[in-house]
Amino acid sequence: MLKRRQLFQLAGVAAWMYSGAGHSQEVASVPFRHYPLDPVDTANFRQKLFVPGNSGPFGVLDVAGPLKIRATAANFPILPGPKTPISSPFLLYQTEHAGKAYQNPILRIESGSRFTASLDNALPEPTIIHWHGLHTPAAMDGHPVNTIAPGGRYDYDFTVRNRGGTYWYHTHAHGLTAKQAYNGLASFFLVDDDDQRRLAKALDLRLGVTDLPLVIQDKQFDAQGKLRYQPNAQESMMGWLGDVVLANLTPNAVQTVTPRTYRLRLLNGSNARIYRLAFVTGKKRLNFTVIGTDGGLIERPESVTEAFLAPGERLDVLFDAGQAQIGTDIFLKSLAFDPMENEGPAMPGMAGMAGMEHGAGHGAPGVASSRLTLGVEFNVLKLSVTAGERIVAKLPATLSKVSAIPLQGATQRKIELSLENMRFLINGRTFVMDEIAFDVKRGAVEVWSISNPTLGMPHPMHIHGFSFQVLERLGSPAQVSSSARFGKGRTAGDLGWKDTVLVWPGETVRIAIDFTHDFPGDQTYLLHCHNLEHEDAGMMINFRVQG
Ligand code: C2O
Ligand code: CU
Ligand code: CU
Repeated sequence: MLKRRQLFQLAGVAAWMYSGAGHSQEVASVPFRHYPLDPVDTANFRQKLFVPGNSGPFGVLDVAGPLKIRATAANFPILPGPKTPISSPFLLYQTEHAGKAYQNPILRIESGSRFTASLDNALPEPTIIHWHGLHTPAAMDGHPVNTIAPGGRYDYDFTVRNRGGTYWYHTHAHGLTAKQAYNGLASFFLVDDDDQRRLAKALDLRLGVTDLPLVIQDKQFDAQGKLRYQPNAQESMMGWLGDVVLANLTPNAVQTVTPRTYRLRLLNGSNARIYRLAFVTGKKRLNFTVIGTDGGLIERPESVTEAFLAPGERLDVLFDAGQAQIGTDIFLKSLAFDPMENEGPAMPGMAGMAGMEHGAGHGAPGVASSRLTLGVEFNVLKLSVTAGERIVAKLPATLSKVSAIPLQGATQRKIELSLENMRFLINGRTFVMDEIAFDVKRGAVEVWSISNPTLGMPHPMHIHGFSFQVLERLGSPAQVSSSARFGKGRTAGDLGWKDTVLVWPGETVRIAIDFTHDFPGDQTYLLHCHNLEHEDAGMMINFRVQG
């Protein structure tokens, strides 16, 4: 199999052009893959998981009335230090609400309510907030065309039309999204509705206690413990990977649990890393139950033992910690997988390059600087099972109603991903701010066949403005088709309403979208890859829903 680095070379780059930063030299003396906070080593898992409270960082903010949000830079303690945690310069959304201060608040709102917020840009560069997964008018969507300059303000005012679910918000300044999101500009946007309340009541789920929003991210830190984001040419092309894995910004996190059921709202907030999630104790994989995907609850709880989670995607799961003995540790892991970077027929002249794969060490020019290769197995979170009443949850037979989009008369559309001159393209295009790649009619149902060539890498494809349903996966690799229990090659993570779907090399994923809306006039939205380096490099197009 050809690897990340080789695809990059194949794409024709003069590789040795990057002068390594502090990161590499500092760790050169420790054996490769064993470093402080290495998430492969279970012994490193000692930091208490950061769990959101009712104010402060990631505090749960029940939206009632207009918000004033400020995007700004601040210090934020991430890494555990000898005495005090090491602060990293971080980008944050600050706000006050009902007398309390919040940074990157977890916004919570009832479906059908009005959401009003102003964004003030206190950063030295342009920014804008996008509400990922929400069905809003284009002007409220945080399209990069609405980016505001330093000192500028943008006003949002829209009705939250989405069903209950785990959405999120993040920066969308074109060319700066990857860096700004990596440096902190992202958090959850939770929508509540009757289905959500019914589930919470049936299973005694309380947000911040037994219902835990969990954003998973991978970061790099320099020798001083500061966040590092310096993609070289290869990393700009393939995506930036970290080697310290954070759950709610906690590296090597531990959460104590009692033998009962927890809800974990998993969000992959990483720039480029794909996770293959599983709960493992010792050598044993435990069951968990998928209850929701990007756009809220699915119809029925589905028991699985693993699930892929790509950047931008959410997976709502129930996990019964009583499956393990009191006193044992359970790890939420990312299992090993084939990253399928540059799959396809071997290219002439590639053989000689194979030796460069390992010798150079991380941080060397043209080599990925992350010590955690895409597809290796590592741990994300340790759950320590402590004494407590054994509560066996009775899962509801139905969670919610997901009506299939009627497909009669649907317009068929091909979305082809490709690689040309070191750039990943969509239908042969790279992003141009004011160019419309295609038009869609208001109220039309379309079926998009998104195909990824074999020579490439996996791309998490995301659509703004409208949720979709995954109809079918064709040509899936074995690591995907082995979990495809739901007909037409679909896995549990493909069920329900989606806004982001991972398309593997060689795959075609067919999705259905209903473009019904009640916004006045034409509305322009984005289709893009949620590998944030790809997005910034232009793997993004505009489409217009005609009024
Ligand atoms: Cu979360 Cu346009 O993206
Ligand atoms: Cu989005
Ligand atoms: Cu991509």
